[in-house]
Amino acid sequence: MAVPARSPNSVVSEPNRPRWWQRPWVGPLLVLTFAFVTFSLPPYLTLDPARSRVPDPGYAPHYPMLVAHVICGSVAILVSGFQVWPWFRRRHPAAHRRLGRWYVFAGVLPAGLAGLVVGATSPFGPVARVSNVMLATLWLITTLIGWRMARRRRFAEHRRWMIRSVALTLSIVLNRLGGVLLVVLSPRLETSFHGDETLLTQTIADIGTWLGWTLSLLIAEAWLERGRTPRHAELVSTGGRRA
Ligand code: HEM
Repeated sequence: MAVPARSPNSVVSEPNRPRWWQRPWVGPLLVLTFAFVTFSLPPYLTLDPARSRVPDPGYAPHYPMLVAHVICGSVAILVSGFQVWPWFRRRHPAAHRRLGRWYVFAGVLPAGLAGLVVGATSPFGPVARVSNVMLATLWLITTLIGWRMARRRRFAEHRRWMIRSVALTLSIVLNRLGGVLLVVLSPRLETSFHGDETLLTQTIADIGTWLGWTLSLLIAEAWLERGRTPRHAELVSTGGRRA
């Protein structure tokens, strides 16, 4: 019997698939990414080094590289929310492909290469430098593998590598949550830090830069593994009903 042809853009009604309002993380994720860019980007659009939030490390290419990094990083983070949204991917496959090219070639690739330079010359010390260079390298590698997998039409692997890439993109938001560490570590100022406030601030920044992306990557791995357990496979195949 002939199988009816299906256009790549057609939307098939699949009763077992959760609908867009059953993904409670999509809305908060999009709001978070837009809020982050609204707060982070404007000072760098002025091209005025005096408005940079990163102190000058005394290396001339640092500021232009930082501006390129922030602008392209903003493209990557704004696009990332749409790319991982299952409803958007299924409903608008052409837009998913177009935004995917923006994510890789106008976002991660230039932002990651510039991130390598600003990371290696960071004024925040050697611990932050190593963390930033590791993060930029993993960001570039996961994204390029994800892109290659899509080109080869190996979509299951494409999805796994791009989830890792987006976890690293979003890790930058976690990076800024140093305030939580401040609350935890401040009471130890006189004991662990011998009253040295600079040491306390430096330690918080160092822990923050490492925790941001390692935690994010671990959460992504846990999320990917969750899809591999027999229990989850059973729930998916029965549309959430117990067999
Ligand atoms: C995931 C890989 C990333 C790496 C390795 C990275 C690395 C860096 C580095 C090294 C700096 C300079 C500060 C320092 O020396 O520590 C910086 C600053 C900055 N990055 Fe990234 N970044 C990444 C992703 C992103 C993304 C996705 C955005 C999204 C907008 C972003 C936005 C910024 C901003 C706004 C600054 C300036 C600091 C501020 O104004 O708060 N970065 N980044």
